[in-house]
Amino acid sequence: MKPGLAVVIVGEDPASQVYVASKSKMAKECGFHSVQHTLSADISEAELRALVADLNADPAVHGILVQLPLPQHIDSGAVIRTIDPDKDVDGFHVVNVGRLGAGELDGAFVPCTPAGAMLMIERARGRDLSGLSAVVIGRSNIVGKPMAALLLSVDCTVTIAHSRTPDLEATCRDADVLVVAVGRAEMVRGSWIKPGATVIDVGINRVSGVYGKSHLVGDVHFDSAAEVAGALTPVPGGVGPMTVACLLRNTLVAARAQLAGGAA
Ligand code: GUN
Repeated sequence: MKPGLAVVIVGEDPASQVYVASKSKMAKECGFHSVQHTLSADISEAELRALVADLNADPAVHGILVQLPLPQHIDSGAVIRTIDPDKDVDGFHVVNVGRLGAGELDGAFVPCTPAGAMLMIERARGRDLSGLSAVVIGRSNIVGKPMAALLLSVDCTVTIAHSRTPDLEATCRDADVLVVAVGRAEMVRGSWIKPGATVIDVGINRVSGVYGKSHLVGDVHFDSAAEVAGALTPVPGGVGPMTVACLLRNTLVAARAQLAGGAA
């Protein structure tokens, strides 16, 4: 039996389409059973929840991912709560959010971007992160909040900064580990960074270049930051591939658990 991943995308957001295509492609390349459901933007919430219920009941599907954001007329929380927590390989269901918040990491599916970021932080600094000052800019459910919970679980002193934080630069300069997930192109400059800090850039922003050609940049100004940071992730090619790798890892873990439990 192959590990099975179902990816659901609603509407035509170009960035979401790119992310979803790379998740489905990598799942296939790794020999997973991979199915993608591409739905029109005007699908009703009830229809979407019915599809998720079908996937919950499908023994060939061990992991379900509903790409966010969803169109405004759909309550994302209600859709995510429809996913069986044992198939919630994104770690967005309140059951998995609660496990992470309570420090019950063994049984939890941890959101893939923060999980991938942790692997890179540990690669740069070693597994003992205890006592380090960690600053996470951004408070989303997808990255900022779970990232902060993970850093806290390994005994970092964690600050969550956001658009209302008064002196963001000074807060950043205090960080041994800085994770930036704000969605603003090149906002964090080298002068904001503590020398030797580990910097994880979660941003993916499309900007237009000099000859009208667009390209991708992160939330961190790479060239100035690279002069100061001890380690810095590039965009593209840094956090993105780690997110996909962690998604496949979560799907494999889900498949093994479901097969062991006789659910599949
Ligand atoms: N949108 C942006 N990142 C993610 C992710 O990791 N999972 C899902 N489902 N949607 C996203």
